[in-house]
Amino acid sequence: MFGKKILGTILCAAIAFTALTGCAGGGTKKVGISMPTQDLQRWNQDGAYMKEKFEAAGYEVDLQYAGNKADTQLSQVENMINSGCKVLIIAAIESSSLGTALDKAAKKKIPVIAYDRLIMDNENVDYYATFDNGLVGKLQGEYVRDALNLDSTSGPYNIEFTAGDPGDNNATFFFNGAMEVLKPYIDAGKLVCVSGQTDFSSVATAEWNTANAQSRAENIIGTYYADKQIDAWLCSNDSTAQGVANALEKLYTGAYPVVTGQDCDKVSVKNMINGKQTMSIFKDTRTLAARTVTMVNQILNNETVEVNDTSTYNNNKKVVPTFLCDPVSVDLSNYQKVLIDSGYYTQADIDNA
Ligand code: BGC
Repeated sequence: MFGKKILGTILCAAIAFTALTGCAGGGTKKVGISMPTQDLQRWNQDGAYMKEKFEAAGYEVDLQYAGNKADTQLSQVENMINSGCKVLIIAAIESSSLGTALDKAAKKKIPVIAYDRLIMDNENVDYYATFDNGLVGKLQGEYVRDALNLDSTSGPYNIEFTAGDPGDNNATFFFNGAMEVLKPYIDAGKLVCVSGQTDFSSVATAEWNTANAQSRAENIIGTYYADKQIDAWLCSNDSTAQGVANALEKLYTGAYPVVTGQDCDKVSVKNMINGKQTMSIFKDTRTLAARTVTMVNQILNNETVEVNDTSTYNNNKKVVPTFLCDPVSVDLSNYQKVLIDSGYYTQADIDNA
């Protein structure tokens, strides 16, 4: 009787300890992964790859998606802190709205890795794992420059711009990277933006949402391009490129423009094959996930954490040590090699998108 009571007490204590620390299986370390949304293919892949790789490395994983709602993400991250996660990996919905959670994490000495998107305005961001965001925009701009032969023809060519969510720190990096390449041609009159909308705030797309990008593109086509050709539409990613492609399909009758994108979402790769999008930027989520697992291992084992950029990503409180992975420009000429032969997709994945 007495023995049973002691056993019960020990069991209860063990259960309480497990609930408190989130440690299952005698000390398994729990990793909290907070992703923005399941609406976009890429975040599902990022989450799935990380979960798989962390579990294979012996971690327990708490993976949450926040439906693109900043307050949901905040409470999910707070739950991760309270349930004993030993490290947090966060792709922020709004770059500046996680401050209270990060302060709590810091008090508990829980390291924070900003995943793909930098978390701004807080000093408790320990590392940043991402792709070279400026280079993504530059590759898009260079693609437009080369596709229109801007250096060897006189033009002028008409161009429009669709950028990303103003709350996402990446969005300005992409836009500025592209503009660095294209602005000289605009200034020289070789590229003409007929709508006149060339500043980030006019061309941004709330939540990177396809429908929002489509309705703005429909307005622009209806207002400015009834009898004019559109030669290029610089879109910062695939979800916005898909909106622009829908608008072009619905309202535009001229020769199809060069349309850029980013992520190589299956739908956008299919659109490339069908001539509705010209290029995309491939960011291999397998690479970023693997890099993040390496970072976590290095942090938790008190090893030197490998980074390759210690100057670019200032979050207004500090320069966050960063590991940048390489983005790759993809179009019809190399999608087979980069996406299919590498095992990222099967041809059927694209056909059935
Ligand atoms: C990511 C892009 C993605 C976009 C929309 C950005 O922060 O870097 O890959 O397309 O968010 O989710």
